[in-house]
Amino acid sequence: MYKEYHALALQIKNLNLGEYLEFGCGDGGFLDFVLAQNSSYKTITAVDINPESVDKAQEKLAGHDIHFIVDKKLPLDLKMNSFSTITLSNTLHHLQNKESVFAELKRLIKPDGEIIITEMISNELARPEQTYCRFHALRAEVDRLHGIFHETTYTANEIQEMISEAGLRIRSKAILLNAKEAVPDKIEVAEMETIIDNLTQAESLRPEFLALEETARSIKAHLRQYGIKRPRQLYLATTTY
Ligand SMILES: C[S@@+](CC[C@H](N)C(=O)[O-])C[C@H]1O[C@@H](n2cnc3c(N)ncnc32)[C@H](O)[C@@H]1O
Repeated sequence: MYKEYHALALQIKNLNLGEYLEFGCGDGGFLDFVLAQNSSYKTITAVDINPESVDKAQEKLAGHDIHFIVDKKLPLDLKMNSFSTITLSNTLHHLQNKESVFAELKRLIKPDGEIIITEMISNELARPEQTYCRFHALRAEVDRLHGIFHETTYTANEIQEMISEAGLRIRSKAILLNAKEAVPDKIEVAEMETIIDNLTQAESLRPEFLALEETARSIKAHLRQYGIKRPRQLYLATTTY
Protein backbone atom coordinates (compact mmCIF):
# COMPACT_ATOMS: atom_id res chain seq x y z
CA MET A 1 0.00 0.00 0.00
CA TYR A 2 2.85 2.46 0.85
CA LYS A 3 4.14 2.26 -2.75
CA GLU A 4 1.28 4.59 -3.72
CA TYR A 5 2.77 7.37 -1.56
CA HIS A 6 5.65 8.70 -3.67
CA ALA A 7 6.08 11.74 -1.43
CA LEU A 8 6.49 9.44 1.59
CA ALA A 9 9.29 7.58 -0.19
CA LEU A 10 11.10 10.90 -0.68
CA GLN A 11 10.80 11.76 3.03
CA ILE A 12 12.10 8.33 4.02
CA LYS A 13 15.09 8.44 1.66
CA ASN A 14 16.31 11.51 3.59
CA LEU A 15 16.28 9.88 7.04
CA ASN A 16 19.47 8.88 8.78
CA LEU A 17 18.07 5.72 10.41
CA GLY A 18 21.05 4.62 12.56
CA GLU A 19 19.71 2.46 15.39
CA TYR A 20 16.19 2.12 14.06
CA LEU A 21 12.96 1.03 15.82
CA GLU A 22 9.60 0.53 14.07
CA PHE A 23 6.99 0.59 16.88
CA GLY A 24 3.73 -1.22 15.95
CA CYS A 25 5.32 -3.06 13.02
CA GLY A 26 2.22 -5.18 12.25
CA ASP A 27 2.86 -7.46 9.29
CA GLY A 28 5.90 -5.40 8.29
CA GLY A 29 4.36 -3.38 5.43
CA PHE A 30 5.86 -0.05 6.47
CA LEU A 31 9.18 -1.55 7.56
CA ASP A 32 9.51 -3.28 4.18
CA PHE A 33 8.83 0.07 2.47
CA VAL A 34 11.40 1.91 4.63
CA LEU A 35 14.12 -0.69 4.08
CA ALA A 36 13.52 -0.59 0.31
CA GLN A 37 14.19 3.19 0.33
CA ASN A 38 16.94 3.60 2.87
CA SER A 39 19.86 1.47 4.03
CA SER A 40 21.33 3.96 6.53
CA TYR A 41 20.39 1.74 9.51
CA LYS A 42 22.95 0.25 11.89
CA THR A 43 20.44 -2.01 13.66
CA ILE A 44 16.72 -2.71 13.12
CA THR A 45 14.24 -3.47 15.90
CA ALA A 46 10.50 -4.06 15.40
CA VAL A 47 7.87 -4.20 18.17
CA ASP A 48 4.23 -5.26 18.15
CA ILE A 49 1.68 -6.74 20.56
CA ASN A 50 0.23 -9.14 17.98
CA PRO A 51 2.22 -12.37 17.51
CA GLU A 52 0.39 -13.40 14.30
CA SER A 53 1.25 -10.09 12.62
CA VAL A 54 4.88 -10.39 13.73
CA ASP A 55 5.06 -13.91 12.22
CA LYS A 56 3.98 -12.40 8.89
CA ALA A 57 6.53 -9.57 9.25
CA GLN A 58 9.30 -12.09 9.95
CA GLU A 59 8.38 -14.02 6.83
CA LYS A 60 8.16 -10.87 4.67
CA LEU A 61 11.47 -9.48 5.94
CA ALA A 62 13.42 -12.74 6.19
CA GLY A 63 16.35 -11.24 4.25
CA HIS A 64 17.02 -8.62 6.96
CA ASP A 65 18.63 -8.93 10.37
CA ILE A 66 15.78 -7.63 12.57
CA HIS A 67 15.30 -7.93 16.33
CA PHE A 68 11.56 -8.64 16.66
CA ILE A 69 9.86 -8.10 20.02
CA VAL A 70 6.30 -9.18 20.85
CA ASP A 71 5.35 -7.60 24.16
CA LYS A 72 2.35 -5.78 25.61
CA LYS A 73 4.16 -4.75 28.75
CA LEU A 74 5.86 -1.39 29.01
CA PRO A 75 8.61 -0.44 29.58
CA LEU A 76 10.15 -2.83 27.06
CA ASP A 77 13.29 -4.70 27.94
CA LEU A 78 15.42 -2.15 26.06
CA LYS A 79 17.92 0.40 27.42
CA MET A 80 17.01 4.07 27.47
CA ASN A 81 18.38 6.25 24.63
CA SER A 82 18.81 3.18 22.41
CA PHE A 83 17.46 4.51 19.12
CA SER A 84 18.34 7.28 16.66
CA THR A 85 15.07 6.88 14.71
CA ILE A 86 11.68 5.55 15.80
CA THR A 87 8.75 5.25 13.38
CA LEU A 88 5.08 4.96 14.31
CA SER A 89 3.14 4.38 11.12
CA ASN A 90 -0.65 4.17 11.03
CA THR A 91 -0.45 2.85 14.56
CA LEU A 92 -1.61 5.87 16.56
CA HIS A 93 -5.31 4.99 16.14
CA HIS A 94 -4.56 1.43 17.36
CA LEU A 95 -2.99 2.54 20.65
CA GLN A 96 -5.20 2.10 23.69
CA ASN A 97 -2.45 3.34 26.00
CA LYS A 98 -1.16 6.34 24.04
CA GLU A 99 0.25 8.12 27.11
CA SER A 100 2.40 5.19 28.22
CA VAL A 101 3.50 4.42 24.65
CA PHE A 102 4.70 8.00 24.16
CA ALA A 103 6.47 7.93 27.53
CA GLU A 104 8.23 4.76 26.36
CA LEU A 105 9.19 6.20 22.96
CA LYS A 106 10.63 9.26 24.72
CA ARG A 107 12.63 6.97 27.02
CA LEU A 108 13.98 4.95 24.08
CA ILE A 109 14.91 7.75 21.68
CA LYS A 110 18.42 9.27 21.87
CA PRO A 111 18.50 12.92 22.94
CA ASP A 112 19.21 14.01 19.34
CA GLY A 113 17.03 11.31 17.73
CA GLU A 114 13.84 11.65 15.69
CA ILE A 115 10.41 10.09 16.18
CA ILE A 116 8.59 9.92 12.83
CA ILE A 117 4.82 9.68 12.91
CA THR A 118 2.84 8.99 9.78
CA GLU A 119 -0.90 8.52 9.94
CA MET A 120 -3.87 8.58 7.55
CA ILE A 121 -6.08 11.58 8.19
CA SER A 122 -9.84 12.05 7.98
CA ASN A 123 -10.13 15.72 6.97
CA GLU A 124 -10.15 17.43 3.56
CA LEU A 125 -10.34 14.14 1.67
CA ALA A 126 -11.27 13.70 -1.99
CA ARG A 127 -14.29 11.42 -2.63
CA PRO A 128 -12.30 8.22 -3.33
CA GLU A 129 -10.32 8.82 -0.12
CA GLN A 130 -13.60 9.30 1.76
CA THR A 131 -14.66 5.85 0.54
CA TYR A 132 -11.54 4.33 2.11
CA CYS A 133 -11.99 6.34 5.29
CA ARG A 134 -15.56 5.04 5.65
CA PHE A 135 -14.46 1.47 4.89
CA HIS A 136 -11.75 1.81 7.53
CA ALA A 137 -14.31 3.09 10.07
CA LEU A 138 -16.44 -0.02 9.38
CA ARG A 139 -13.42 -2.29 9.89
CA ALA A 140 -12.57 -0.47 13.12
CA GLU A 141 -16.18 -0.92 14.32
CA VAL A 142 -16.04 -4.66 13.61
CA ASP A 143 -12.69 -4.92 15.41
CA ARG A 144 -14.23 -3.20 18.44
CA LEU A 145 -17.10 -5.76 18.42
CA HIS A 146 -14.34 -8.36 18.76
CA GLY A 147 -12.83 -6.50 21.72
CA ILE A 148 -9.88 -5.14 19.71
CA PHE A 149 -8.99 -1.49 20.36
CA HIS A 150 -9.24 0.28 16.99
CA GLU A 151 -10.34 3.90 16.62
CA THR A 152 -11.42 5.63 13.43
CA THR A 153 -8.85 7.91 11.80
CA TYR A 154 -8.19 11.39 13.21
CA THR A 155 -7.98 14.83 11.63
CA ALA A 156 -4.51 16.35 11.10
CA ASN A 157 -5.23 18.83 13.91
CA GLU A 158 -6.26 16.09 16.34
CA ILE A 159 -3.02 14.21 15.64
CA GLN A 160 -0.86 17.32 16.11
CA GLU A 161 -2.61 18.06 19.41
CA MET A 162 -1.94 14.51 20.64
CA ILE A 163 1.72 14.79 19.69
CA SER A 164 2.16 18.15 21.37
CA GLU A 165 0.34 16.95 24.51
CA ALA A 166 2.73 13.98 24.58
CA GLY A 167 5.57 16.51 24.94
CA LEU A 168 7.09 16.02 21.49
CA ARG A 169 8.20 18.98 19.40
CA ILE A 170 7.05 18.94 15.80
CA ARG A 171 10.17 19.81 13.76
CA SER A 172 8.55 19.42 10.34
CA LYS A 173 5.23 18.34 8.94
CA ALA A 174 3.79 17.47 5.55
CA ILE A 175 0.57 16.17 4.09
CA LEU A 176 1.49 13.33 1.75
CA LEU A 177 -0.90 12.49 -1.05
CA ASN A 178 -1.58 9.07 -2.47
CA ALA A 179 -0.51 9.14 -6.13
CA LYS A 180 -2.86 6.35 -7.24
CA GLU A 181 -5.33 7.25 -10.01
CA ALA A 182 -8.80 7.25 -8.54
CA VAL A 183 -11.06 6.45 -11.44
CA PRO A 184 -13.61 3.80 -10.40
CA ASP A 185 -12.18 0.51 -11.67
CA LYS A 186 -14.77 -2.26 -12.13
CA ILE A 187 -12.51 -5.08 -10.92
CA GLU A 188 -11.31 -3.17 -7.88
CA VAL A 189 -14.87 -2.10 -7.01
CA ALA A 190 -16.10 -5.71 -7.27
CA GLU A 191 -13.22 -6.94 -5.06
CA MET A 192 -13.87 -4.24 -2.46
CA GLU A 193 -17.60 -5.04 -2.44
CA THR A 194 -16.74 -8.68 -1.68
CA ILE A 195 -14.39 -7.61 1.14
CA ILE A 196 -17.09 -5.36 2.64
CA ASP A 197 -19.75 -8.09 2.32
CA ASN A 198 -17.50 -10.70 3.94
CA LEU A 199 -16.64 -8.29 6.75
CA THR A 200 -20.30 -7.64 7.62
CA GLN A 201 -21.69 -11.14 6.91
CA ALA A 202 -19.25 -12.59 9.45
CA GLU A 203 -21.16 -10.59 12.11
CA SER A 204 -24.63 -11.84 11.03
CA LEU A 205 -25.43 -13.30 14.47
CA ARG A 206 -24.81 -10.05 16.34
CA PRO A 207 -27.54 -7.57 17.33
CA GLU A 208 -25.49 -4.87 15.55
CA PHE A 209 -25.70 -6.73 12.21
CA LEU A 210 -28.57 -4.72 10.64
CA ALA A 211 -26.85 -1.42 11.39
CA LEU A 212 -23.55 -2.77 10.00
CA GLU A 213 -25.33 -3.93 6.82
CA GLU A 214 -26.89 -0.48 6.37
CA THR A 215 -23.47 1.18 6.75
CA ALA A 216 -21.97 -1.32 4.30
CA ARG A 217 -24.70 -0.57 1.73
CA SER A 218 -23.98 3.14 1.92
CA ILE A 219 -20.18 2.62 1.62
CA LYS A 220 -20.67 0.35 -1.42
CA ALA A 221 -22.85 2.99 -3.15
CA HIS A 222 -20.10 5.59 -2.54
CA LEU A 223 -17.48 3.10 -3.79
CA ARG A 224 -19.37 2.44 -7.04
CA GLN A 225 -19.80 6.15 -7.69
CA TYR A 226 -16.35 7.49 -6.79
CA GLY A 227 -13.89 4.57 -6.53
CA ILE A 228 -11.48 4.17 -3.63
CA LYS A 229 -7.97 5.09 -2.63
CA ARG A 230 -6.10 5.27 0.64
CA PRO A 231 -6.27 8.72 2.22
CA ARG A 232 -3.52 11.28 2.42
CA GLN A 233 -1.20 10.93 5.40
CA LEU A 234 0.10 13.41 7.92
CA TYR A 235 3.89 13.05 8.25
CA LEU A 236 5.47 14.51 11.37
CA ALA A 237 9.16 14.56 12.22
CA THR A 238 9.35 15.10 15.98
CA THR A 239 12.04 15.45 18.63
CA THR A 240 12.13 15.52 22.42
CA TYR A 241 14.13 18.78 22.60
C1 LIG B 1 -2.30 -0.74 11.17
S1 LIG B 1 -1.03 -1.62 11.97
C2 LIG B 1 0.37 -0.75 11.31
C3 LIG B 1 1.48 -1.68 10.95
C4 LIG B 1 2.72 -1.02 10.34
N1 LIG B 1 3.21 0.08 11.13
C5 LIG B 1 2.46 -0.56 8.93
O1 LIG B 1 2.10 0.62 8.74
O2 LIG B 1 2.58 -1.37 7.99
C6 LIG B 1 -1.03 -1.10 13.67
C7 LIG B 1 -0.27 -2.06 14.56
O3 LIG B 1 -0.14 -1.48 15.88
C8 LIG B 1 -0.06 -2.57 16.78
N2 LIG B 1 -0.24 -2.10 18.17
C9 LIG B 1 -1.37 -1.68 18.80
N3 LIG B 1 -1.10 -1.34 20.07
C10 LIG B 1 0.23 -1.54 20.26
C11 LIG B 1 1.11 -1.38 21.38
N4 LIG B 1 0.67 -0.93 22.56
N5 LIG B 1 2.40 -1.70 21.23
C12 LIG B 1 2.87 -2.15 20.04
N6 LIG B 1 2.10 -2.33 18.94
C13 LIG B 1 0.79 -2.02 19.05
C14 LIG B 1 -1.17 -3.49 16.28
O4 LIG B 1 -1.03 -4.80 16.78
C15 LIG B 1 -0.98 -3.39 14.75
O5 LIG B 1 -0.15 -4.43 14.27
